[in-house]
Amino acid sequence: MTKKVDLDWNNLGFSYIKTDYRYISYYKDGEWDNGALVEDNVLHISEASTALHYGQQAFEGLKAYRCKDGSINLFRPDQNAARFARSCTRLLMPEFPQERFVEAIKEVVRANEHWIPPYGTGGSLYIRPLMIGVGDTIGVSPAPEYIFTIFVMPVGAYFKGGLTPTSFVVSEYDRAAPVGTGAAKVGGNYAASLLPGKEAKKRQFSDCIYLDPLTHTKIEEVGAANFFGITKDNQFITPYSPSILPSITKYSLLWLAEHRLGMVVKEADVFIDKLDEFTEAGACGTAAVISPIAGIQNGEDFHVFYSETEVGPVTRRLYDELVGIQYGNVEAPEGWIQKV
Ligand code: PLP
Ligand code: COI
Repeated sequence: MTKKVDLDWNNLGFSYIKTDYRYISYYKDGEWDNGALVEDNVLHISEASTALHYGQQAFEGLKAYRCKDGSINLFRPDQNAARFARSCTRLLMPEFPQERFVEAIKEVVRANEHWIPPYGTGGSLYIRPLMIGVGDTIGVSPAPEYIFTIFVMPVGAYFKGGLTPTSFVVSEYDRAAPVGTGAAKVGGNYAASLLPGKEAKKRQFSDCIYLDPLTHTKIEEVGAANFFGITKDNQFITPYSPSILPSITKYSLLWLAEHRLGMVVKEADVFIDKLDEFTEAGACGTAAVISPIAGIQNGEDFHVFYSETEVGPVTRRLYDELVGIQYGNVEAPEGWIQKV
């Protein structure tokens, strides 16, 4: 490490910190330029950019982890590259070549290496790739030009409790339409979630639970994370729906629950009036990691899972497997870890 950064590594939250370098590449006349690292964190774009008016943009989120031996791990960046390509295709944006996506991430992480929280602090370097439509367009049509950029920042826990359970409230709003853009990681879904999220936090909940937009009977998402539950007979259940963001963490937990914990795993409907099936529940995602759910408020009902103060034993084992793999302490399934 060349430079030193003076941060309270053990108490990082999830907020923007300007680090030294970001990667940027421009798409013009049908092709991407070579891309470069730059120090300027301000984008200068046309007022008629489609990203500003019509939400033509997509983003990703993944993390770099400092291991005990000083090396740096990326967790399944190829999966983020693939999902990003799908999101871009959904919004008629050009694909950024998937191998270049991973290489560019490694370049930015290396350039900002001194911003990676030290091993043992629980922090990690959050990586935010994004693409926006730019140029002069006022009709509702795809942009002529695009910017792809990646910036990074050190982060700690996303939901305040970390591994301490917190509670969520069922929202009356939808974050996405049944055959809309829920499965794509695009800004519009998050814009739609701001008001429900604010209302949930005002009532002291960590965030809201979104039900399926068609029938409002089944759990879809937990704020910016997927839902999972552990049934009384030790099955790992997570909702399946075309309007859920296909969480890379969730698919990793499905695999770990089955192959490491020997559980029966299922993507299935999770009805909001049948929460009694579950002994434990959690939210999972890159930012959320695994955040145990203490309870869910649904109208007048408050359903408590394992405990309002303690993480349940299965959630704890899943957490230890997942986080152990991410920080290089537990053997990873083939292809899950890429060294920077
Ligand atoms: N659901 C939503 C709405 C999200 O924003 C995220 C975050 O990326 C997730 C789920 C979790 O996905 P992943 O595990 O790939 O980070
Ligand atoms: C992530 O987990 O990477 C996310 O994108 C959540 C984020 C919207 C805060």
